[in-house]
Amino acid sequence: MAKLIIVIFGASGDLTKRKLMPALYSLFYTKRLNDDFAILGASRTTYSDESYREYINKEMYHFLDKSLQDKEKIDEFIAHLYYKSMDPAEENQYASLKDKIDTLGGAHFNGNILYYLSTPPVLYGKIPLYLRSVGLNTKESRIIVEKPFGYNLESALALNKIYENVFDEHQIYRIDHFLGKETAQNLLAFRFANGVFEPLWNRNYIDYIEVTAVENLGIGDRGGFYDKVGALRDMVQNHLIQLVALAAMEPPAIFNADTFRNEIVKVYDSLKPLTEIDFNDHIVRGQYTAGHYKIGYREEKGIPEDSRTETYIAMRLEIGNWRWSGVPFYIRTGKQMPTKVTEIVVHFRETPHQMFHCSKGNCPKANKLILRLQPNEGIVLSLGLKVPGSGFQIKNVTMAFDYNQLGGIPMGDAYARLIDDCIQNDPTLFTRSDAVEASWRFFDPILNYWQKHPEAPLYGYPAGTWGPLESEDMMHYHHAEWTNPCKNLTDTDKYCEL
Ligand code: BG6
Repeated sequence: MAKLIIVIFGASGDLTKRKLMPALYSLFYTKRLNDDFAILGASRTTYSDESYREYINKEMYHFLDKSLQDKEKIDEFIAHLYYKSMDPAEENQYASLKDKIDTLGGAHFNGNILYYLSTPPVLYGKIPLYLRSVGLNTKESRIIVEKPFGYNLESALALNKIYENVFDEHQIYRIDHFLGKETAQNLLAFRFANGVFEPLWNRNYIDYIEVTAVENLGIGDRGGFYDKVGALRDMVQNHLIQLVALAAMEPPAIFNADTFRNEIVKVYDSLKPLTEIDFNDHIVRGQYTAGHYKIGYREEKGIPEDSRTETYIAMRLEIGNWRWSGVPFYIRTGKQMPTKVTEIVVHFRETPHQMFHCSKGNCPKANKLILRLQPNEGIVLSLGLKVPGSGFQIKNVTMAFDYNQLGGIPMGDAYARLIDDCIQNDPTLFTRSDAVEASWRFFDPILNYWQKHPEAPLYGYPAGTWGPLESEDMMHYHHAEWTNPCKNLTDTDKYCEL
């Protein structure tokens, strides 16, 4: 009999086969999941336990890291899978879900259930209520909810109310998988385990900070979802702002779920609200058009010909507190860019006086610190040094550190880490209700403005380029510039431009 039952709503969907099953398997493989667990898929597609096992078994070989593909282990894992065909939007189907859970748990089951909501967001408000209606919101249960949590501030507040009426806050896990990335956590170690950077980490020494999370893919089969959401809700309101918080937060006195998440909320609360005047000057929205042999967004499956949904967004943010006053944070995200990269670039101020001059095309430049989250995770510091020979020709060089050098046993991807934390009842790396609300509070006026002003600028950019030229103009206007890494960055590439 199972002592832990993991119920996945949306079990026949994309996320389950791509991320959740490989993550659960990697926990099983590394013995983080004991033998007495059951995974119960609950979705509309019709499967039996047997046919669901066959389906997942096949997908495992597509989506599981090659190093983990051990046939015997996969077969063992698959034997823990069960399936319940049901429509999670129908309350009357939850009694039979309960029967199935009771059968899997047996007479001595203590209600240790982990629900994973990987459904379309419209169901996020219904499932907890229906679980409660049949008593499935047990004291021992936890619920993981995918992003976006809410569509705007109002809906996020309403959702939080529903969840808080059904579960205690410590049972609610709002997932943002960026926080599960090893290198996002390393940013905290980098900042708070090393004294050398702390004195420099403020407005006195930092000129501006860039946060980039771009991808070289389009929206694939997610047109129906994506067109309703857009880049701001999909990436900025959660992932990007989370990275800003990690770069900007104060160190908590002790590190635990409450103190860490308190500091994140303080950053969100300190974001300087943007006014309508800023919406055009400090925000650039874009949508990819055909280019580099790729189709444009409006030609993608499920996208209306006149869609004005943004697939790119660049913004200039400011944090109004003592540490950061006057330091712009430039953030950007986009689909169909030249490469996939997520990184934070810290631009230090120039030396107060420059005694060396440009020579043979080399000019002294301000130092940059690049914290790369993916791919080829690492840290790069740019320094100006003298080229050997006569005169003083200053050239920019890099000092690079590669995370691979650290060794250790990676736990698999971000989802494995986060699901494991949830099983261990550790909510530190999940978003608390007040953080979701604070983030929406900041972004809501922008979304409202776009809704009221559909004619607000939306710039086209050819697929495979670095976004609308207007985003370059926004930077140049403020004497800043984006750091674009090499095209087609791969795991072995070094920085081609600093
Ligand atoms: C998801 C977004 O949360 O993050 C996707 O919904 C995006 O649109 C993805 O592609 C990017 O995540 P990662 O881990 O691949 O950088």
